[in-house]
Amino acid sequence: MWDYSDKVKEFFKNPHNTGVIENPDAVGEVGSIICGDALRLTLRIEKSTGIIKDAKFQTFGCASAIASSSALTEIIKGMTIEQASRVTNKDIADYLGGLPEEKMHCSVMGMEALEAAISNYRGTPAKKEMVGEEKIICKCFSVTDKKIIRAIKENNLHTVEEVTNYTKAGGGCGKCKPEIEKLLNEFWKKEGSKAVYKKELPKFKLTNLQRIAAIQETIDREIRPSLKADGGNIEVVDIDRNKVYVKLLGTCLGCPATGVTLKVLVESKLREFVDESIVVEEVKE
Ligand code: FES
Repeated sequence: MWDYSDKVKEFFKNPHNTGVIENPDAVGEVGSIICGDALRLTLRIEKSTGIIKDAKFQTFGCASAIASSSALTEIIKGMTIEQASRVTNKDIADYLGGLPEEKMHCSVMGMEALEAAISNYRGTPAKKEMVGEEKIICKCFSVTDKKIIRAIKENNLHTVEEVTNYTKAGGGCGKCKPEIEKLLNEFWKKEGSKAVYKKELPKFKLTNLQRIAAIQETIDREIRPSLKADGGNIEVVDIDRNKVYVKLLGTCLGCPATGVTLKVLVESKLREFVDESIVVEEVKE
């Protein structure tokens, strides 16, 4: 399980500035609000001064996503748009007293929502830092080369595992890991350093009985209610060490976003609350 700071726990249990501002002056959305990690940020901005008078968020994500979004709104309230445009994911993580490495992507999501909101306010397209076409590197999480390179550069990342922690790329089927490694090597070659590819080692801290009970309990508490709210459900078919085989039921069956639901909701929650090496696979009849 993750080791959260007291501030993360506090902001998760009592999030500040949740909800939506009516007729906002700026809106920033990242991810998918229907399936997976997603964040919608709405801002009230005083036209004459450019000061952010109010900020609210809605998110569909884990404890760190809620805490990061909450921290973001606290940080930017009272800032001018100009000041807010310099807020980074590190500022969000620092405000929370740090985030587990595996959860840094939540602070990145906050930064991206803020950038989207500022672009929306200014009426300009989101800032482009790379010339040329962006390419999807990780199909499981729709992460582009631009996003990966930016995360490498701004957070001094040197391993595929670190890139996964900050962007989610590589956290699903793993097919994109060689391409991520290539981006790392190309980037650090240009910078005169060498990337080190550390393979993730599976961790088995629980006994089998404890693991099965923890998986069932996490599904009942963290996953099933979200699926049921949309008319779906989930059934655990089998558990084999770090592999969890599940069947999706109801409206989840045949939903085009099934893959995202499995990875971003089911697998991510099981990794967060049970074991970070868990891989979820769907069983179809
Ligand atoms: S393509 Fe990146 S994890 Fe599957």
